[in-house]
Amino acid sequence: METAAVILAAGKGTRMKSKLPKVAHEILGKPLLGWVLDSAREAGVDREVVVVGHGAEVVSQIVGERAGTVMQEELLGTADAVRCALESDLLAGFSGNVLVLSGDCPLISPTTLESLVSVREEAGAGACVLTMELDEPFGYGRIMRDAGSPDQVARIVEQKDASEDEAKVRECNSGFYCFDADALRSAIHRVGSDNAQGEFYLTDVAALMREEGLPVVAVQTDDETECLGVNSRRQLAEASAIMQRRINEGLMDEGVTLVAPELAWIGPDVRIGQDCVISPMVELLGETRIGEGSKILQNTRIEDSAIGEGSVVGPNTRLKDTEVGSGCAMDETVSYEAKLENGATTGPRAYLRPGAHLLEGAKAGTHVEIKKSTIGKGSKVPHLSYIGDTTMGEGVNIGAGSITCNYDGTHKHATKIGDGVFVGSDTMMVAPVEIGDGAVIGAGSVVTREIPANSLAVARAREKIYEGWAEVRRKGK
Ligand code: UD1
Ligand code: CA
Repeated sequence: METAAVILAAGKGTRMKSKLPKVAHEILGKPLLGWVLDSAREAGVDREVVVVGHGAEVVSQIVGERAGTVMQEELLGTADAVRCALESDLLAGFSGNVLVLSGDCPLISPTTLESLVSVREEAGAGACVLTMELDEPFGYGRIMRDAGSPDQVARIVEQKDASEDEAKVRECNSGFYCFDADALRSAIHRVGSDNAQGEFYLTDVAALMREEGLPVVAVQTDDETECLGVNSRRQLAEASAIMQRRINEGLMDEGVTLVAPELAWIGPDVRIGQDCVISPMVELLGETRIGEGSKILQNTRIEDSAIGEGSVVGPNTRLKDTEVGSGCAMDETVSYEAKLENGATTGPRAYLRPGAHLLEGAKAGTHVEIKKSTIGKGSKVPHLSYIGDTTMGEGVNIGAGSITCNYDGTHKHATKIGDGVFVGSDTMMVAPVEIGDGAVIGAGSVVTREIPANSLAVARAREKIYEGWAEVRRKGK
């Protein structure tokens, strides 16, 4: 049987006190709605429909191509939201299971969703409700079991409509359901708004289905944290902490050392190999991959990057869209859209900008900036240099304080440095310029012309020496 998921995300989330719609707030780099969509997908849902309203543009952007969206023009209640989805082209003629989820409940597990579907199917029920037993049920809809057959739900009563006795019931509606699509279609049109809030309650569907003689069953979760709704920044932090613990415990079970798990923030799509060690104060986000036996040291943030085996990254490193090979060592490095081959080293305080490519064993050392340049095998740029728009051969040594002058104020120009070149300290290579294999450049040179292979280039004023001058000055003469 096919399963569709309807995800309610039209609400404003007033208590967040935010310009962003509630479901756009993030946990570990993923919007709340993204967590719900992923969970539904993992549960094997065939299609997803998101009901949008407040901040529809932002919410639709999060949804992107992953699911369909339906606009709920006026927030008339949860039943109205589901009706909008059912009546849309996206679900026209659909029959099978309809899971209803809230976009602000990011912790729901795929296994729980699967069990809602299978329990509903087995019972041939109109609906299967996910419930939870709470010590402090205030605010939730209450589950009224059928006195005659307590495995059946007779109806659900909202807090504001509950009598004193009904309010004493501790079994609560989590807001997650699996419905039979046809039964839902027929019941939802009969939901009225004659209640304390003047809203169309989805919860009324339970009693309506029972009137039709359809079973309405429940699955009770023993982990109510799954149903935690995020309505405030406090709850956002609470949900983040729960998710962090889930992810980190999973990683530790797979053989990753987290020195201080509560101080490591690792996103759900990050993959980390065995025997990696993650120091405190580390953020690993997006589609990051880390090979076996690598170490990620303190104060490091890595986003959408891949690290090979046995590399050491950090401290104080920030990587985004960067590929790092095996056996690399990076210290206090900032890198965007760069690539390091095996055994390359960077920092402390290196800045790799888009298109920086360090080949095997290359080095970008202290206070070195590299942009759109290839640093050849084993070539070293150890100190205080800027290399831009450069192709560098193997075994090159760039002296401290040397730079490529790649910009003439209007255009960028290229520099080509051959194999085995030795560039003396404080050399300016004014691009476009080419330095032949094996050439040597004297310290302090300004190079503007092509330097043939194996030659020496020196371009500087000769120093003058005045013997005894300093002593004369000290004596004030
Ligand atoms: C709902 C349930 C309640 C349950 C609780 C669990 C109803 C009537 N009540 O109450 O039994 O215990 O969830 O959290 O369903 N939404 C829309 N469009 C609307 C109204 C709501 O998209 O017109 C969305 C909201 O953004 C939210 C979700 O539906 O994501 C739930 O709505 P909300 O008003 O928060 O329901 P509760 O009052 O919490
Ligand atoms: Ca409400």
